[in-house]
Amino acid sequence: MAQDKPFGWGIMGTGAIAGLFAADLDLLPQARIVAAHSRSLEKAQSFVARFDGAKAYDDEAAFLADPAIEAVYIATPNHLHAAQALKAIAAGKPVLIEKPIALASADVEAISQAAGKRGVFAMEALWSRFLPAVHRAREQISAGRIGAIRRIRADLSYLHPEGPGSRFYDPALGGGAAFDLGVYPVSLTLHLLGEPEAVRGNWFAAGTGVDRRSSFRLDYPTAVAELSCGFDRNGANRLLIEGEAGGLILKAPFLKVQRLSWYADADKAVAAYDRGPGSLARLLDRLPQSGRLSESFAFPGNGLQFQAQAVMAAVRAGKSACAQMPLGESAAVLRIIEAVRAGPAGAA
Ligand SMILES: NC(=O)c1ccc[n+]([C@@H]2O[C@H](COP(=O)([O-])OP(=O)(O)OC[C@H]3O[C@@H](n4cnc5c(N)ncnc54)[C@H](OP(=O)(O)O)[C@@H]3O)[C@@H](O)[C@H]2O)c1
Repeated sequence: MAQDKPFGWGIMGTGAIAGLFAADLDLLPQARIVAAHSRSLEKAQSFVARFDGAKAYDDEAAFLADPAIEAVYIATPNHLHAAQALKAIAAGKPVLIEKPIALASADVEAISQAAGKRGVFAMEALWSRFLPAVHRAREQISAGRIGAIRRIRADLSYLHPEGPGSRFYDPALGGGAAFDLGVYPVSLTLHLLGEPEAVRGNWFAAGTGVDRRSSFRLDYPTAVAELSCGFDRNGANRLLIEGEAGGLILKAPFLKVQRLSWYADADKAVAAYDRGPGSLARLLDRLPQSGRLSESFAFPGNGLQFQAQAVMAAVRAGKSACAQMPLGESAAVLRIIEAVRAGPAGAA
């Protein structure tokens, strides 16, 4: 980082992901938390207690005016992201916004316009794109390691029983599987293949009306992506990329991938992917196999530090966007979700 002064982060929200982000910033000596905002001053005070000199706020405007904050990390429920991002931008603060960046693609356009007009950095916190294994996969695929991509398949599912008070199912908080989980496989697919020519899919409603499960079929001129997500089970949570000259599996959970398996024969990658997450599959996975090469990209912490590093570098370089995670792709992901949600819900 160009300057010696540690980069000052301000965090909005003091829940689960805010805690993980703070823990991952501990891994970056050049980063520090200088302020937190909560609806409750006591919660903000307790959140910043371990950070020397950090300030606690329960007033948004005062928080956003804090000169020590070089970037704001928005870690509140989904329905607040867009409005808080616009306020941060209006205050001239670079902003990293938790996923989904907004509940509607039009809101991303508004964020993009405001950031462009003000010359302020804004990015969705789709941290998986910044993981070393994803960087390696993209670089190797571009270099032709598995030939042109023919198909991407992924399911991302975590069991969350429907119950009162769950943000996952609450429409008022922007709940639903697509917003919570679907953004990961859809965004990674766009990272590899760009925007699709056509989108199809279906979704199944929970009792609250949000989607409990969604699936997406993205058509490209010479490739297809078959993606799904849900709260109705724990899934295998791997991502398969079939190329014309080989295959690649991003190991589970692919949103936090630390291991890649490359296959010289795409059919063998498909067979391994289709074996599912059982114990036989795990055993076969550990045995050496001709035509398969695994690479490890282990990292400490939760994996949020890589996106934080990218934001700090971009902000300190005076950039208003990050080439690795452009707002245009955040909007494209939401347009895909919108296209699927525009259809009727299927039978559960
Ligand atoms: N990157 C990832 O891997 C990842 C993982 C989990 C979640 N997320 C995203 O991070 C965001 C927060 O998720 P989380 O799991 O951290 O949720 P959470 O534990 O419920 O925390 C959200 C925080 O937002 C604040 N908040 C402000 N207004 C609120 C309201 N009306 N209702 C509830 N909370 C409110 C609360 O902090 P105060 O009480 O201090 O105001 C609360 O602690 C979501 O957008 C989610 O999609 C990302």
